[in-house]
Amino acid sequence: MRNKDRYLEVAIAAAKEAGRIQRLHLGHLHGVEYKGEIDPVSEADKLCEKAISQIVLDAYPDHDLLTEESPFKAKGSPFKWVIDPIDGTTNYIHGFPFFCVSIGLEIEGEMTLGVVYDPLFNDLFQAEIGKGAFLNGNRILVSKTKELDRSFLTTGFPYDVREHGDYYLRFFREFMIKSVAIRRPGSAALDLCYVAAGRFDGYWELKIHSWDVAAGSLMVAEAGGMVTDFQNRPYNIYGEEIIASNGLIHQEMLQVIQEVSKKNA
Ligand code: IPD
Ligand code: CA
Ligand code: CA
Repeated sequence: MRNKDRYLEVAIAAAKEAGRIQRLHLGHLHGVEYKGEIDPVSEADKLCEKAISQIVLDAYPDHDLLTEESPFKAKGSPFKWVIDPIDGTTNYIHGFPFFCVSIGLEIEGEMTLGVVYDPLFNDLFQAEIGKGAFLNGNRILVSKTKELDRSFLTTGFPYDVREHGDYYLRFFREFMIKSVAIRRPGSAALDLCYVAAGRFDGYWELKIHSWDVAAGSLMVAEAGGMVTDFQNRPYNIYGEEIIASNGLIHQEMLQVIQEVSKKNA
């Protein structure tokens, strides 16, 4: 088996195990703590993180792991797994069925594979660089919507909304009146996979973290979409701002973002 196939196999095994843990604890969960005012972490996040880390490290003891719930301890490996054990924790702890596990693998600074698993729909999204994006084994492609005016968008809000809510809402307001509709489902990784699958036409978010978007941003690119920062630079998962779209509405989305940013500079 080629190394790359093995990486994918390990990522899928880890994602499925985390998904199993998510299903097991859903609805009867203890131990929710808050990392910030409204930024939750549950016992299930920690269990998922532990299980994923164990599976990856059993296969690749020398690889680096960047996970949301633990401090990063660099080993200096060219391989870095970027992991969100539960993306959509607020949904998860309320039993709202929109959450997932997200695992990306960066090799020498390049995102090379991504797996996102939604354990309730049993939806496995996967992408490898240069090989396309797939949902449960079937190729997925971004939508063909050509205009923002006809677009169905998704977004999320950072955890510091209590301080900067008005600013985030300016972007929301502009997109709300310029698109068909916006949703705020609560999982950045699934938002991106839904753009990749053509369910949404575009997505934007501020102050996002690498683990939220590592796998999903590759999914969009491999499904034929476009992912950039707010200045239209190629997306870097360590950046804070993201626009992902089917490509066709990207310029229009950028224009809205830049107008709002300019007015508030
Ligand atoms: C959050 C979700 C949410 C997004 C936040 C993320 P978490 O991740 O992806 O949709 O709006 O920015 O932090 O905390 O549930 O892993
Ligand atoms: Ca997340
Ligand atoms: Ca998380």
